[in-house]
Amino acid sequence: MQRLPSQFFAGLTQQVQAYIEQGRDVINLGQGNPDLPTPAHIVEALRDSVQDPATHRYGPFHGLASLRSACAEFYRREYGVVLDPDSEVAILFGGKAGLIEISQIYLNEGDVALVPDPGYPDYESGIKIAGARMATMPLVPEQHFMPDLEAALASEPDAKLMFLNYPSNPTGAVVDSSLFEQVVRMAQSRKMLVVHDFAYASIGFDSIRPMSFLEVEGARDCGIEIYTLSKTYNMAGWRVAFAVGQKEAIAALKLYHNHAYVSLFPAIQKAAESALLGPQDEVHQRTEIYQKRRDAFYLALHQKGISAKPPQGTFFGWLPLPEGISSLDFASRLLQEKGVAVAAGVGFGQHGEGYVRVGFLDREERLMEAAHRIADWMIQNQNG
Ligand SMILES: Cc1ncc(COP(=O)(O)O)c(C=O)c1O
Repeated sequence: MQRLPSQFFAGLTQQVQAYIEQGRDVINLGQGNPDLPTPAHIVEALRDSVQDPATHRYGPFHGLASLRSACAEFYRREYGVVLDPDSEVAILFGGKAGLIEISQIYLNEGDVALVPDPGYPDYESGIKIAGARMATMPLVPEQHFMPDLEAALASEPDAKLMFLNYPSNPTGAVVDSSLFEQVVRMAQSRKMLVVHDFAYASIGFDSIRPMSFLEVEGARDCGIEIYTLSKTYNMAGWRVAFAVGQKEAIAALKLYHNHAYVSLFPAIQKAAESALLGPQDEVHQRTEIYQKRRDAFYLALHQKGISAKPPQGTFFGWLPLPEGISSLDFASRLLQEKGVAVAAGVGFGQHGEGYVRVGFLDREERLMEAAHRIADWMIQNQNG
């Protein structure tokens, strides 16, 4: 327990809550909790299946076979990737659980795992619980927020795991196949498992369709992909995700599950099936909503004379800060002085310094209002 880092964002949440309780008008763009509801047909599927007493009993240890088949069918339909539902799919209690479990499975004390910097903080949590060491791969705008794989593996040749995440939280970057092809080439010659976190799979803007790691030839021999229903179907509270790919890793996850728990509540699994196999129009509508919000936010910044590059995917903007202020100070002063909560970039790693992350998780008008307040703060504080 002592190895675990403190939860960086807990402090921000408390501060925001305190301001709201004081009656202040706070626009909270600091977190990544989707604001729109789960599509109605999925909620109805849960309601129907919870009435079936069969769902009240213990389910199979590895999840319902029908859900694993639905995951495989989803990958065939969305990505043209054909998977064996028995050996290439594992059901997870949310993506976060899978990301933590894979570190327990693969890492012994002193082992090394490579993570993107800036990146999702929970990669570190799993690595620390395992007593392993985290080595970072800087993501910088000059390299389109892609890691320098040669440099990373030259300095950590024995890395056992490599975490990747595109569309990227927090940078909003999306990649094409060339990065994944290079990853596969470099992973094939070593004993390293690639873990692609595909949490924002469905959120690509301007007609960009984020690609699955498994679309690249050879990927399933050296890696797994973690797909959560949290963002695609606005099911963050339901805790359902799955891992697909390399058979040995999938078998290891399932063995871990045999010992740790008896899979998910079967009624939730039935609802997840209907999410994956049912109508997908709301998924596309939500991406359009996020895109409109993104556009409204950046237009409002632009109107005030602040230019910044909009993200290609996810529901986050990654805003560079003026020189001379740390991301923590900026976030804290912006909240105090303008009532806008954003996430300090340094919370995502050392290379997040100089940025803040803005979540497009409020109405367009509120996002425009937030952009105006941010721009006003920047203009007022231009000369220090
Ligand atoms: C990059 C990334 N990965 C994984 C997750 C975890 O998602 P969940 O545990 O809800 O499946 C999140 C959630 O915010 C995320 O941003």
